[in-house]
Amino acid sequence: MLKPQISVELPAKNAYNYPIYIGQNLLDEYTDWLSPLIPGKKIVIITDEVVCKLHARNFAAILEKSGYDVLLLSFAPGEESKSYDKFVYLLDEMLKHKCDRHSLCIAFGGGVVGDITGFVAACFMRGIKYIQIPTTALSMIDSSVGGKTAINSEHGKNLIGAFYQPVAVIMDTNLIDSLPKDQLINGLIEAIKIFLTSDSEYFNYTLTNLGDIVSKDYTKLTKVIQRAVELKADVVAKDEKEENLRMILNCGHTIGHAIEKLSEYKMAHGYAVALGILVEAKISFLSGLLNHEQYVLIEQILTKLDITAKHLKHFKASDIVAATLIDKKNKAGNIYMILLASIGKVSQSHDGKFATIIAPDIIFQALSTFGL
Ligand code: GLY
Repeated sequence: MLKPQISVELPAKNAYNYPIYIGQNLLDEYTDWLSPLIPGKKIVIITDEVVCKLHARNFAAILEKSGYDVLLLSFAPGEESKSYDKFVYLLDEMLKHKCDRHSLCIAFGGGVVGDITGFVAACFMRGIKYIQIPTTALSMIDSSVGGKTAINSEHGKNLIGAFYQPVAVIMDTNLIDSLPKDQLINGLIEAIKIFLTSDSEYFNYTLTNLGDIVSKDYTKLTKVIQRAVELKADVVAKDEKEENLRMILNCGHTIGHAIEKLSEYKMAHGYAVALGILVEAKISFLSGLLNHEQYVLIEQILTKLDITAKHLKHFKASDIVAATLIDKKNKAGNIYMILLASIGKVSQSHDGKFATIIAPDIIFQALSTFGL
């Protein structure tokens, strides 16, 4: 047996402890959170053209007035910008403008901005600090926390990337004040998802208060965002690299990703995941895990958001199953899914795994109950 002569023992330092601030007017109070995080004076704000005009340009001007040297970089909004081209463009601009290891990146935008900025920060001079300032409900509740960074390739979404954690996440709720209702729901689905996997009390709270939450009752909406983020942070802290526990965040996503792909990404992520939750909850029920009463509550919360089986009818069962077969989380040709044992609890196999292998037949059976 070959024995290593030397082992590299990195100290278990708390490199990944980072604060998440949630509240109003956080951008105005930037000195409180920014000063302790920036090693030098150079800040690179990466954003998209819409967020740039709405918020990022103003914020850059404020920082410049206080003596920071700000490079503001933007690109067209949308998933197409998570590309090799934009990745190279951002890095080259940073080099051209003499950014160095002490420069700080700020991802100012939604999931696309957060993902590519995180990956740029991970690669620039082997890694520099970055902050997430999410501007959509979806990026606040899900993508800005947890350090999944990526760009897309012609072979699929998020296939090139790194786990690279930000040094802070700033969730200024003023930024989502003007979000249209469908975009708020797009993010809320991820909160409902994590409550389904981990917190029945908050699932019930959300079900009871859904009208007020969707109407942006500040206290109730913030309470839901805060709890969802707290639960996600806890999962990420326990399993950063998605070896097991972090898989629970994929609840609803096996079918959700298939639907998103079949819609050619025209259906928003949260809405596709909501349909995924509906089908996967039905599979949990058909598998004898989730009881009928709880299945009905899941159907009810989605119906209140006008997400029902009628939206599934645009798709063919065989296409959905075929699309789940090419999910990047599959292993050895098996389809993996997160099944619910009850609201607030994910089913675990005898070896403690949260992702369960699913036979295509049961997916067909569940889809047939929705008329597909
Ligand atoms: N969006 C799922 C995760 O961060 O793992």
